[in-house]
Amino acid sequence: MARKKIALIGAGMIGGTLAHLAAKAEMGDIVLFDIAEGIPQGKALDLSQCGPVEGFDAKITGTNDYADIAGADVVIVTAGVPRKPGMSRDDLLGINLKVMKAVGEGIKAHAPEAFVICITNPLDAMVWALREFSGLPHNKVVGMAGVLDSARFATFLAWEFDVSVKDVNAFVLGGHGDTMVPVTSYTTINGIPVKDMAKIKGVSESRIDEIVQRTRSGGGEIVGLLKTGSAYYAPATSAIAMAKAYLGDQKRMLPVAAYVEGKYGLDGLYVGVPAVIGANGIEDVVEIELSDEEKGNLKVSTDAVEELLEACKNLDGDLA
Ligand code: APR
Repeated sequence: MARKKIALIGAGMIGGTLAHLAAKAEMGDIVLFDIAEGIPQGKALDLSQCGPVEGFDAKITGTNDYADIAGADVVIVTAGVPRKPGMSRDDLLGINLKVMKAVGEGIKAHAPEAFVICITNPLDAMVWALREFSGLPHNKVVGMAGVLDSARFATFLAWEFDVSVKDVNAFVLGGHGDTMVPVTSYTTINGIPVKDMAKIKGVSESRIDEIVQRTRSGGGEIVGLLKTGSAYYAPATSAIAMAKAYLGDQKRMLPVAAYVEGKYGLDGLYVGVPAVIGANGIEDVVEIELSDEEKGNLKVSTDAVEELLEACKNLDGDLA
C-alpha cells in the first residue's frame, strides 16, 4: 500500500513541529508548503536528517508550489501570522482571512479529497472561511482548538489535584477565544466529577474558577512569555491526534471546531463541540445536555464567533 500523504500549509513553528511529529509516527510522506522561499525546503532537509537517528521512514519535502500537495490525504493549515503580545486572536482576522483565501483555493485546485484541519487563528472564523473558499464538504474541514483547550484544562487540573494527566478527562465547548466554555460538569478525574474531587481534596470553588479562567487565557499566557510568537508544541500534537483519528478510522470523540447545523440551537457555524472523527471525516456531532448557566456561556461564545463571521463577510465580498 502506498504511503499516505500529509500536506502542511505553513512551515513555521507549528508546521515544522507537525512535520516532525508526523514523520516520527510514520504517518506518511510529508510536504511542507510555505510562501516564504527556502523555509519549507530548509526545514524539510533538516527534518529528513532526523530520520536516520530516530529511525523513521518518511519522505519530507519542502515547496512553494501548491501543485506539490496534489493527492494529499490530510492537509493541516497553519499558514498565517501568529499572535504577538497585546494582540487578540481577533486582531489577526484581516491578515489571516486573506491567507485562508489563497490556501482554500490551493486546496480546492490540488487536494479536494483531503481531510483538512485548520489551526490558523482566529480559529472558528478561519476554519469557516477556509471551508467557504475551498468548497470542500463540511465534514472534511475541521478546526483544531478543543483538543488543545481541553489539554490545557486537564494539565492545570492534574497539577491542582496532584494526579496524572492521564486520569483527567477535561471538557471544553464553544469558540477558541476568551469566551470558550470549559464545562466542569462533564470534566472528571477518572470518572469522579471535578466538583466532587475538589471537595475530596479541599479545593475551593473559587480555585476551580481560577483554573477555568487560566484555561480560557491559556494561549495568551504563552504568548506573553514567548513574546515573539504563540504556542506550537501542544497545538501541533493536538492536530496530529485528529489526523491520526481520520487516517486510522479511529472514531475518536474529540472536542473540535466542527460545522454545527441544528444541534446546540446553531444554524451553520463552526464551533467547538464533541465530534466523532473517522474515515469519513466528521462523522457525528454529539449534543450534550447543558445547565442554564452553561447554555448562557455557550451563547456568549457562539455570539462572539458569529460576530467574527460578520466581520469576515464585510472584509471579503465572496463570503457574503
Ligand atoms: N501561504 C502559506 N504560508 C503562509 C502564508 C500564505 N499565504 N502566509 C504566511 N505563511 C506562513 C509564514 O511564512 C510562516 O512560515 O505561515 C507560517 C506561520 O508560521 P509562524 O509564524 O511560525 O506561526 P505558527 O506559530 O506556526 O502559528 C501559525 O497557528 O495557532 C495559530 O495563531 C497561530 O495563526 C497562527 C498559526
